[in-house]
Amino acid sequence: MEYRTLIVETTDRVCTVTLNRPDKLNALNISAKKELGELFEKLKSDAAVDAVIVTGAGEKAFVAGTDIGELTSLDKESGKQFAAGGQAVFAAIENLGKPVIAAVNGYALGGGCELALACHIRIAAENAKFGQPEVNLGVIPGYGGTQRLARLVGEGKAMEMILTGDPVDALEALRIGLVNKVVPPAELKNTCREMAKKIVSKGQFAIRLALKAVHVSQETNLTDGLEVEASLFGLCCSSEDFKEGTAAFLEKRKPVFKGR
Ligand code: COA
Repeated sequence: MEYRTLIVETTDRVCTVTLNRPDKLNALNISAKKELGELFEKLKSDAAVDAVIVTGAGEKAFVAGTDIGELTSLDKESGKQFAAGGQAVFAAIENLGKPVIAAVNGYALGGGCELALACHIRIAAENAKFGQPEVNLGVIPGYGGTQRLARLVGEGKAMEMILTGDPVDALEALRIGLVNKVVPPAELKNTCREMAKKIVSKGQFAIRLALKAVHVSQETNLTDGLEVEASLFGLCCSSEDFKEGTAAFLEKRKPVFKGR
C-alpha cells in the first residue's frame, strides 16, 4: 500500500515506520494519524512482521506534535472526538501485540511525546527533546499524555512537564525513566535495529504474552496482575516454543522457535 505521510520498510521481520513530513517536523496531521491507524491494523495480522520501529524523517524531529493548524476549528464536542480519535490510533500501537520501539531522533513534543509513550520501548538520540507543551496553546495533552506519562515517570514529574510545558533533554529523559537508552544520533538506527533483532530472535509466543502481562501491570492491582501472570505462564508452557526452548538448552544447541 502507498502512504502519503509514512515510509514503511520491512526487513528481517522488523518493520520500520518513518513519519515523513520533515518540512513540518513530522507534525501529525489528519492524514498521518489515519495512515498510522490503518498501518498498525494491518501490522497486527502481518505474519512477516514480529517487531516495529517508529521514527521520524530528517535529523531534527521525531514528531513535533499534532498539526497545530488543524486544532483551531475544534469546539467542545469535536475536540473530544479529535482526542478520542488520536487515542484510538495510539492504543492500536500499544496493543499491537508485537513490540514497538520508538527511535526518537529529535523533537518529541505534544502528540510526538505521546506517540513515543504509546510505544513499548523508547531509545533516544542525544539531540532528542521530550515535552508536553500543550498548555502553551491553551489545551492539555489529548492523546494519552496525562495518563501514560504519569504512569511512566510518576505523577510529580508528569505534573511538572505538563503544567510548565517545559521540555526535557535526552539525558534528563533517561534519568527520569522516560527513555530506555540514549545514543549518539548516528547510532540510533542501528541500536534500535539490534534491539529489535534480538527480540525477534526469541520465541514470539512468549514475547507476545510477556507484552500482555507487563501491560496488565499498568492497569490492575498486584493480586489480579499476578493471577494473569500465572495464567499466561501456563499458556507459555503449552507452546511448542517452550518445548523447543527448554530442549535446546538441555541439548546445548540454539533453539529454533516457531512462534507457537
Ligand atoms: N504543527 C504544525 N506545524 C508545525 C508543528 C506543529 N506541531 N511543529 C512545527 N511545525 C512546522 C512549523 O510551522 C514550520 O513550518 P513552516 O516552515 O511552514 O513555517 C516547520 O514545521 C519548522 O518549524 P520551526 O518552528 O520553523 O522550527 P524551529 O526549529 O524554529 O522550532 C520547534 C522547532 C519544535 C521548537 C517548534 O516548531 C515548535 O514549537 N513546534 C510546535 C510544538 C508544539 O507545540 N507541539 C504540540 C502541539 S499540540
